[in-house]
Amino acid sequence: MSHPAAIKPDPVSLMPVFTPSSWVLIKRIGREFVRPHVGIFSLALVMMLVSALMTGAMAKMMEPVIDRVFTGGERALLVPVAIAVFAVFTVRGLATYGHTLLMSKMGQLIVGNIQRRLFTHLVYCDLAFFHAEQSGRLISRFVTDTALIRQGVMETLTGFGKNFFTLIVLIGVMFYQDFKLSLIAIFVFPVAGIMVARLSKKLRRVSKAAQIENGELTAVLSQALQGNKHVKSYGMEAYEEKRISGVIDRIFQLMYKSFKVSGRAMPLSEMLSGITIVAIIVYGGHQIISGESTAGKLFSFITAFMLAYEPMKRLARLNNIVQMALAAVERMYSLLDQKPAIQNKSDAVELVAVNPVIGIENVTFAYHEGPAALRGVSLEVPAGKTVALVGASGSGKSTLLNLLPRFYDVDSGRITIDGRDIRDFTLTSLRSNMAFVSQEVAIFNDSLRENIAYGKPNASEEEIIAAAKAAAAHDFIMELPQGYDTFVGENGVKLSGGQRQRISIARAFLRDAPILLLDEATSALDGQSERLVQQAIERLQADKTTVVVAHRLSTIINADIIYVLDAGLVIEQGRHDDLIARNGAYARLYGELLRESA
Ligand SMILES: Nc1ncnc2c1ncn2[C@@H]1O[C@H](COP(=O)(O)OP(=O)(O)OP(=O)(O)O)[C@@H](O)[C@H]1O
Ligand SMILES: [Mg+2]
Repeated sequence: MSHPAAIKPDPVSLMPVFTPSSWVLIKRIGREFVRPHVGIFSLALVMMLVSALMTGAMAKMMEPVIDRVFTGGERALLVPVAIAVFAVFTVRGLATYGHTLLMSKMGQLIVGNIQRRLFTHLVYCDLAFFHAEQSGRLISRFVTDTALIRQGVMETLTGFGKNFFTLIVLIGVMFYQDFKLSLIAIFVFPVAGIMVARLSKKLRRVSKAAQIENGELTAVLSQALQGNKHVKSYGMEAYEEKRISGVIDRIFQLMYKSFKVSGRAMPLSEMLSGITIVAIIVYGGHQIISGESTAGKLFSFITAFMLAYEPMKRLARLNNIVQMALAAVERMYSLLDQKPAIQNKSDAVELVAVNPVIGIENVTFAYHEGPAALRGVSLEVPAGKTVALVGASGSGKSTLLNLLPRFYDVDSGRITIDGRDIRDFTLTSLRSNMAFVSQEVAIFNDSLRENIAYGKPNASEEEIIAAAKAAAAHDFIMELPQGYDTFVGENGVKLSGGQRQRISIARAFLRDAPILLLDEATSALDGQSERLVQQAIERLQADKTTVVVAHRLSTIINADIIYVLDAGLVIEQGRHDDLIARNGAYARLYGELLRESA
């Protein structure tokens, strides 16, 4: 999916090294995400330049302070110099505050835009995509990668805007004060830089490994916390404890190693600075004693030299940050560039179904690289009638249902509504003509009202209550302390299984679509709940063209036509009585259900 070869960090280079493909990424992220904020950046840039000039002024001012006030004794200059120093510091402080604030604002705006783009993209992705991707990895695109991109963009812009310019100004001051000394210093810096860069290559390897372990930590955590019920019921607490402890240990080892490596840079650069300062003192002292220079000039030079350390260091670090950001940008675009396979045809039309007939014609389908789940299924759902799909677990019932709203597209054959291929309709209109009650009930962590209104956000209170009543949900909702405003917790944990089902049925009622797709839950409910759900479903089916994956006896018996699926094939079809009379697969299946419910 990603192409790691596109980014080749140069181990000893201080400045970012870009391959042609990373330039493509840089231009693209610049165009799509940075350019909209060019106004903010321009303002920030002005403040960066002001701040850089003030830093230069600080160094330059050391000369008159020492030569004219301290050693020259010009009393008249004391106050003006003091005021000037104060002014320089104040202006620098304000400018730094200004550009930091502006850049942070811009960074967060960019993160927000990227996250919005990613989400918009993901929410329209095919279901097949979500089966292939781990949600943890997708979430880390949102959190970790956007943070890396922000850091990369910020450091690059600030790096070139502020650090680079500050460096130029300070080097200017150095050369102005002492040309020969400046030449010496200019040679020492890169040597130190190369040494630090060598270390940082090692550091990068370690931190990459730490990142992988951190991902592992997230995975183990979410499994142990979200799936805590299962952890408990299987008594796996100690196992999970050990597992997480192992990951935490590995993270410690890696982090400690990275501290040690990065710590090594410290004494190294200290020593180099020491050597440089000694050289300056020896050479500079000689110059002053022989009268060729002044203490003020030398001190101004040293100040500029020391002030240059910080921007230099930041620029040296830029390469790493940019490479990491580029890797994140690449991951982001590889995601954004995946086009959903299920899309509207260019000449797609709106589906307006009143009393639709559904045709399934010789449909085959296999999940990505899996064996065929459907192998030439044909069936018809007459207008306003109910078709029941029955068959053993894994025979392809849910799969067939999933093809109708085009969660997946058929591999061959076709599905029609009123004789027209469903791929001719716009996805939105196709799906808006369907209400889907799935096998796994989806309840969102929101109020009951919002949950019922999920398929029709502008529904009125009366409509919501009517739907809840029809679904036999109103009564239990009213018994809750906050009624329709009750929050139901993640996945609706605060509701019983039957209550969850009735909420999802209420949702389908409210949607009031001409086609009803029902995947009955396999989990058994107690008698009372079962009856309530059953009655609600029967009311929901009235006058709708219904395909129901049936697990309950009553649903099956009441269906207008029953299709028996086996390993992706229709092996029997007909009405209940006829099928019983045939004494085939259906009769056996029915017998089993009868025994189970007895
Ligand atoms: N998302 C998926 N990715 C890959 N294979 C899948 C996926 N969903 C289902 N399958 C496979 O397709 C086949 C049919 O599954 P399907 O869910 O349609 O069965 P079903 O008849 O609904 O069973 P049940 O009665 O247990 O719900 C099974 O072999 C299953 O393993
Ligand atoms: Mg199923």
